[in-house]
Parts: sequence; structure tokens; C-alpha cells
Amino acid sequence: MADFPFADRLAALPPYLFAGIDKAKAAVAARGVDIISLGIGDPDMPTPDFIIEALHEAARKPANHQYPSYVGMLSFRQAVADWYGRRFGVSLDAAEEVVTLIGSKEGIAHFPMAFINPGDLALVCTPNYPVYNVAVNFAGGEVEYVPLTDENDFLPDLDAISEASWTRAKMIFVNYPNNPTAATASKEFYRKLVDRARETGTIVLNDAAYTEMYFDPADKPCSILEVPGAKDVAIEFHSLSKTFNMTGWRIGMAVGNPSLVKGLGKIKENVDSGAFQAVQEAGIAALAQGEPLVDGFRKVYRERRDAICAALSKIGISHRVPKASVFVWAKVPQGFTSAEFCTSVLERTGVVVTPGNGFGAPGEGYFRISLTVPTPRLEEAVSRIASL
Ligand code: MLT
Repeated sequence: MADFPFADRLAALPPYLFAGIDKAKAAVAARGVDIISLGIGDPDMPTPDFIIEALHEAARKPANHQYPSYVGMLSFRQAVADWYGRRFGVSLDAAEEVVTLIGSKEGIAHFPMAFINPGDLALVCTPNYPVYNVAVNFAGGEVEYVPLTDENDFLPDLDAISEASWTRAKMIFVNYPNNPTAATASKEFYRKLVDRARETGTIVLNDAAYTEMYFDPADKPCSILEVPGAKDVAIEFHSLSKTFNMTGWRIGMAVGNPSLVKGLGKIKENVDSGAFQAVQEAGIAALAQGEPLVDGFRKVYRERRDAICAALSKIGISHRVPKASVFVWAKVPQGFTSAEFCTSVLERTGVVVTPGNGFGAPGEGYFRISLTVPTPRLEEAVSRIASL
């Protein structure tokens, strides 16, 4: 059988981080090891029943069996606009400023195709969700990485980006609450970013998928769109995945500047045929009625965070106590690289954690723990790591 070579854009890619981890995990599991998977941020709690009921009902409607709208049902987009109004005090025009996505990953991956020409520059704050740089490369663009460091609370130093880069950059990717570092951004930070982007005509793409996973109401994350003038330059990506335990459902949204929303919609018209309407109807139910349950999920994550942070401190693993997200970003012990540490943790203890360098060079020296297993398993994972 012929073995066709991949196109350059694919051949140049490293294996997708979580696909590589899945493979290594499967090899250890095949030896009969009891695996504790703290790799991917995939909520273990089930989707609430009322959302499943809404899907059930919607799936029976023949109208939902036909092609959906490319940019999403107006009723879903209106539910998103209403939620943004209630949650962030941001007013959105559902018809012009909201697009439905087949999960935020899909939208983020397609967005650069609408605005990046070959050779254009994009600034990517790193360590980062790997989709950002890959999407820019797929569109033919160049990436300049902006390091996120502990000293700077994992926020980009906007003044350290050269004038030439600001002027040349078509877009900048930011992500708060941050994956993988779990850092959060203040409104002040967003204000400075928006002001700079307006001066230089740079698009700001904010990935806000984790805003609802906060542990204390005093630390409630904000939306970039809360900042005056943000709609001039920003598009924010959000998702029902983490908030409502719906990763498998593939439903998300992008909101903000109407021309940015329109450009993404044009790409989607050409590459997909929209999200299943029954899933969008279930999404409407989630957005409209889900908040009391999300409060319960937050309490579970908070308990897990407290337990794992206490356990890590006990064994001398340095980490920041996160205020939001479903991750803890910790330092690998002396004498290991990130990859060496995570490989030996998996091989010798059956615990899956993600090497920080998998999110980019500044992630070297760190590893990421996902809070998506029950507390006793998290504690068991740390005691196994302690036995290394
Ligand atoms: C992660 O673990 O980084 C995320 O769950 C991956 C994703 O959202 O696709």
C-alpha cells in the first residue's frame, strides 16, 4: 500500500501533546498498572441531568435533524448574550457579536485562517494551549512567543514586546484563567492590553474557557470585554465544556468585535456545517439554568485544590495555589527535566501528569496536575509521587 507523505504543515508538527500522553498512558496501563490520570483537563463529573433531558427532547424534533445554521442558532447565540450580560455585565448583539462553535478549540484553530496572511506575525503568550501556535502556522503565519514567567505572575510583560513586534503583529493570543499555569488576569491587565492593541491595531484573542472554575467569589475572573474599548480589538473564546462538564458535547462560542466574529463565521461556512441544533438547545438550557449547579462543581474543585496543595506542600513540591482553572502548576523536583520527571512518575507510579515543556519552552521545569479526579485519588497520586 502506498505510504503518502504528509504535507509540510503537518510533517513539521510534534505529536499533539495529549495524544502523545494518551499513548504513553496506554502502554503503562497495558502492564496492568492502576493509572491515575491527572493529564488532560477533562471534568470527571457528569453533565447535569437537566441538560441531558434538554438534549433528549431536542433530538426528537425533526427540524433539528437537518443542517444547522453555520454560525449557530440565533436562540443559542441569544442565550450566550444573555449569559454574558448576567455574568460579566457585557452587552452583546446576538446576531452580530456571537458565533456558535463546535467547542472553543475548533474556533481557535480556525480563527487565524480568517485574519492571518502568509508571513504575518502573531504573538503567542507561552506556556500555552498548543492549538494557538499550530493554528497560526496552519494559516501560514509566524509566531513570536511572549514568555509568561513566575516573576511576572504568568502575565505577559507588554512593555517588553518590541515596538516593531507590536506594529507587525496581526494578533496576540492570551488566555486567562491560564492553561497551564492557572494564573488569573485582573481588569487592569486587560485594560493595558486593550489600550496597547488599540494603539497598534492588533487583534486580541482571549481564550476564557476557565472563567467559571474559580475557588472564591472574591477571585471571580473577568471577561476582557468588560474593559472599555475591548470590542474595538478583541474576540473572546468560551466554552460550555468545563463550566457544565460538557467536553464531549463540543459546544462553545466566540464573542466580541463584529468583524472578527464575521470573519470566523465565513471560515466556518466553508469548513463545517455548524453544531448539532439539539446540542445547541441543550446549551441554552445549561446557560439559562446551570448556575446553581456550577456553584457545586466549584466547591468540589476547591476541595480538591486544597487537598492536593496540602499534599504537595507536605512532600516539598513547590507550586502556586491556584485561584481558578482546573489545574495546579508545580515545579519538578531538582535533578529532573519536566519530561524526565513526568515519564518516571508515569512509568514507576502509574500517575499521569503533563510536562510543562509540552506547553512551550518556558514551561520547562514545571509539570501540570489536573484536578479532574476525586480527592482520594489525588491524594493517592501525591503519595505515589512521594515514593519515587
Ligand atoms: C487541557 O488539558 O489542556 C485541555 O483540557 C485540553 C482542551 O481543552 O482541549
